[in-house]
Amino acid sequence: MKDRILIGDLNKHIDQEVTICGWTDTRRDQGKMVFFEFRDRTGKVQGVTLPNSPAMEVAKTLRSEWVVAVTGKVNKRPERNIQADKVNGDIELEVLGVEVLNEAETPVFDITADTKDVGEDVRLKYKYLDMRSARVQNNIRMRAKVAKHIRDFLTNEGFIEVETPLLTKSTPEGARDFVVPARLYPGNFYALPQSPQQYKQLLMTGGIERYFQVAKCLRDEDSRGDRQPEFTQIDMEMSFVEQGDIMDVNERALIDIVEKFYPEKKIQEKPFPRITYKEAMEKYGNDRPDLRTDKNDPNLLAFCWIIDFPFFEATAKSDNPDTMGEWTFTHNPFSAPKPEHMGMLMNKESIEEILTTQYDIALNGYEIGGGSIRNHKPEALKKVFEIMGYDMETVERNFGHMLKAFSLGTPPHGGIAWGFDRLMMLLQNEPNIREVIPFPKTGEGKDPMMDSPAPIAQKQLDELSILLKKKAEK
Ligand code: AMO
Repeated sequence: MKDRILIGDLNKHIDQEVTICGWTDTRRDQGKMVFFEFRDRTGKVQGVTLPNSPAMEVAKTLRSEWVVAVTGKVNKRPERNIQADKVNGDIELEVLGVEVLNEAETPVFDITADTKDVGEDVRLKYKYLDMRSARVQNNIRMRAKVAKHIRDFLTNEGFIEVETPLLTKSTPEGARDFVVPARLYPGNFYALPQSPQQYKQLLMTGGIERYFQVAKCLRDEDSRGDRQPEFTQIDMEMSFVEQGDIMDVNERALIDIVEKFYPEKKIQEKPFPRITYKEAMEKYGNDRPDLRTDKNDPNLLAFCWIIDFPFFEATAKSDNPDTMGEWTFTHNPFSAPKPEHMGMLMNKESIEEILTTQYDIALNGYEIGGGSIRNHKPEALKKVFEIMGYDMETVERNFGHMLKAFSLGTPPHGGIAWGFDRLMMLLQNEPNIREVIPFPKTGEGKDPMMDSPAPIAQKQLDELSILLKKKAEK
């Protein structure tokens, strides 16, 4: 709005008459005077309506969360009223005029306090209100700052950001696909990407050499604290690199983010320790160990790399939906084995002993990322699918485009993806990723605000040639 001054800039306008726009955070009516806190995206300021103010009548009508344009004079507070530890603690706005831009019903919960204790279903239904509270607002703003920083960081390292499609074909990542019916091709479906894995590798074939994307990934799996059906990766791929090159650029990026945005936090060990999968399982019983020496310290970050994972596991032990034969991949079918194990892969011998070039990165007991060097030769990738029990027709149908690309001059390449939500959860000291996702789903995969998933109209079903099979009523 014209002539609007941001609340965070008010201290540059002492003794001047200005107009601010924002929300009525709190109101204290003391009869002769009415006190307020007004709030915008830059902070809060105290407003005071003096007994002779021309705005007294309208000021008395204001309620919590009404949206207002307030004209007033910026006054220095008397010495005894200064709150030195608070933004704008040394000034107040003498209210001279109020324009009500929008009234608000009484909010369903108090957003001036931390909303942590409010039931989550209510918070998600009114996510746009929850978002006005200081903690949630800060989570969203920090998320944007870190994302911007990583974009700049990678751009400086010679990466370019490339968008890859959402309407695609299933990529095996160990989870179930969300599918989208193709109206023009009845009985056919697009799959939403579990990750941009295949596209980013094809970008390497395409000569992009260094790709990244802040990528939406969709996996039809049960939600929990660190898992959502829809989540964000910082995804990257590089050509002409070895494992160490990828680990190096990622380690530098993570350290840079912590030092720049979280100076109060301490990284326990630099360079990040590297632990083999075998050692992690033997010593800690899992492959994302929490190495913190003091688990009560919210500002301690213990990053570590986990390497030397087995490439395959017996299908009997796996809940991977992509299993067909006796063996399935532990991480990513496109990974290359460790160079010294390539012979074993090609000869299909001692399969349980083949180790992959996969590296995961763990932070305080969470897996926050993972990647690998890929098989860039068609024979090697074919062998992986053979070991997994896929017949050549299935391989051709599902992965023919990859094999073709690998026979048309694909450079050696590898990459990694960070679970951005998990990283932000840990940096922001939040207990689950829903707190750092602007519009998350519930643990049951629902969006109570939009009320989705929801039925669609018969007309839409007809257009899509879909006949619903009604579940037998109990
Ligand atoms: P991966 O499947 O290990 O690798 O995913 C990378 C990282 O994404 C995060 N993550 C999730 N976060 C929230 N909700 C989920 N449902 C979820 N699933 C995974 C984790 C994980 O470490 N294409 C490969 C990467 C590569 O090889 O380059 C991939 O997607 O933090």
